[in-house]
Amino acid sequence: MNNIFINTPSKNNKLIDNFGRKIDYLRISVTDRCNFRCTYCMPEKMKFLPKKDLLTFDEMDYLCSLFISRGITKIRLSGGEPLVRKGLIDFISNLSRFISSGDLKEITLTTNGSLLDKMSKQLYDSGVRRINVSLDTLMKDKFYQITRRDDLENVIKGLMTAKDNGLKIKINTVMIKNKNLDEINNIIEWAHNNNFDISLIETMPMGLTDQDRIDQYISLAEVEEEIKKKYSLKETNYKTAGPSFYKKTNKTKNLIGFITPLSNNFCANCNRIRLTSTGKLFMCLGQNDSIDFRSIIRTGNIMQLHSSIDKAMKIKPKAHDFNISKRNQRPTVSRHMSVTGG
Ligand code: 5AD
Ligand code: SF4
Repeated sequence: MNNIFINTPSKNNKLIDNFGRKIDYLRISVTDRCNFRCTYCMPEKMKFLPKKDLLTFDEMDYLCSLFISRGITKIRLSGGEPLVRKGLIDFISNLSRFISSGDLKEITLTTNGSLLDKMSKQLYDSGVRRINVSLDTLMKDKFYQITRRDDLENVIKGLMTAKDNGLKIKINTVMIKNKNLDEINNIIEWAHNNNFDISLIETMPMGLTDQDRIDQYISLAEVEEEIKKKYSLKETNYKTAGPSFYKKTNKTKNLIGFITPLSNNFCANCNRIRLTSTGKLFMCLGQNDSIDFRSIIRTGNIMQLHSSIDKAMKIKPKAHDFNISKRNQRPTVSRHMSVTGG
């Protein structure tokens, strides 16, 4: 299955979308399942995709090699919680042949941290060097309220194990109205004292949860005001191809990223596409267009796989249009974040 580099007519046909954006970043949700139930992400009684619909890791590996042959140089694995899917470490170890060959710059992972104590050494050994860990609070009771699981101590322990095992860590903190604004300076200090970068994220209206989005959303402009009560904030020139703007405080040394999908659209520089665990390719986190690669891969028609990638480039939308303005509004996007990964 792994001969996609041979005889591929489009090998030099890199991925540029209709708006001239170079696409070199693939994010894969390896499973939509999760051992947490964050209130902004999913309801307590979440209905997950049937396991029989998942791509096998062999199929995912095949699709990765196809995308790499077309110019993808970075892959991020996410979920749901990626570490709950059996066989993930073998999948990554195998995929890291593309790091050895120089075709891939890195394989990264977004995780809720709950399995890091057990798995961070294997992750490092499989080729991962950087991880993003979701953590919205450092307070035990709030952690339970947000994730519906009593697991804060284990997540912190996992973070320390991951750090000891050499993984570079960025904390992702979703800002939730009336929940974690009052401790944001503590969280930043804690992260920076541990040499972790941190990104703050606005809640996005993706999928139904048990709560109204309008009760969850606060803009990062408000969060900045809170930070400025204690620190002055300086813009930095640091920019990844991602959606974050990075700033620094006058006292702590690491970066603070601001991800503002609602209050400040960042789509002009978008370099990414997203594959779901069932093989649907989404061109945008905040739109509904997708192409089903599972059915094509199962017919084994390589030419059709390539033409579908070309089609994906044509239909990648210019921008998302998230909106949280009224009570009882349907989410802009009906699928949950756990389907397409963060
Ligand atoms: N809005 C914003 N962030 C979300 N995440 C999950 N659901 C949402 C949402 N609706 C975050 C997770 C994780 C990242 C992958 O996405 O907390 O940090
Ligand atoms: Fe799981 Fe992440 Fe969703 Fe929380 S935000 S329920 S950890 S997938």
